[in-house]
Amino acid sequence: MSLIELDAITRTFTLGAATVNALRNITVAIEAGEYVAIMGASGSGKSTLLNLLGLLDHPDSGHYRLEGRDVTTLSADEQAALRRDRIGFVFQSFHLVPRLTAAENVALPLVLAGVAPELRRQRVAEALGKVGLSERADHRPDELSGGQRQRIAIARATIMRPAVLLADEPTGNLDRHTGAEVTELLEALNTAGATLIIVTHDPALGQRARRRLMMEDGVLSDERG
Ligand SMILES: Nc1ncnc2c1ncn2[C@@H]1O[C@H](COP(=O)(O)OP(=O)(O)OP(=O)(O)O)[C@@H](O)[C@H]1O
Ligand SMILES: [Mg+2]
Repeated sequence: MSLIELDAITRTFTLGAATVNALRNITVAIEAGEYVAIMGASGSGKSTLLNLLGLLDHPDSGHYRLEGRDVTTLSADEQAALRRDRIGFVFQSFHLVPRLTAAENVALPLVLAGVAPELRRQRVAEALGKVGLSERADHRPDELSGGQRQRIAIARATIMRPAVLLADEPTGNLDRHTGAEVTELLEALNTAGATLIIVTHDPALGQRARRRLMMEDGVLSDERG
């Protein structure tokens, strides 16, 4: 059993008379602990694929098994619980809650999971330490730099110790140096055991991954090495 198994997945969008085949018959398996880059031109289906892996979207046909469970047959509530407990998602534009402090943002998944306040504080402190932002716990997102915001988002995405960490252009809004720091943080999490799947336009970042899934007009090809 692989961590992730996609079997003949299709996703089609209809906009008026136009039909877009965003994913065409995608079959692929990803093992626990892998570091995978999803690459391809704008509009080729990268985000559609990542959203589907993150249970933010559903296929029109085909099956998706995560840790051996066919998620396409789960109820909406079961999918939400799986998303909370097993999947970490990092976005290009951070998606932090503006009113909440860094610590409160990181704590959100624990709150939703009903973790007791004392354990929550402990886990959040630990997570902030891991991303090097213990000093910024009480700052709100607009008091943080882009790189710091993304590190907070990564702390939030990994606080539940997910089986898989998904990142859609995580360095897309950052300058080169800050982007490299964020990439190193994600890679350190992978080295520590997390399965890492990154969507990127950046060929240099793609080359750092041990495997590339190339998207072209909804069709996937697999490149290793
Ligand atoms: N919600 C939607 N409704 C209609 N069409 C959509 C929707 N989401 C994506 N598409 C279409 O599906 C195709 C794939 O989009 P997707 O966002 O996956 O591309 P991408 O590879 O992530 O591109 P980019 O590099 O620009 O982010 C595009 O043609 C897009 O217009
Ligand atoms: Mg995209």
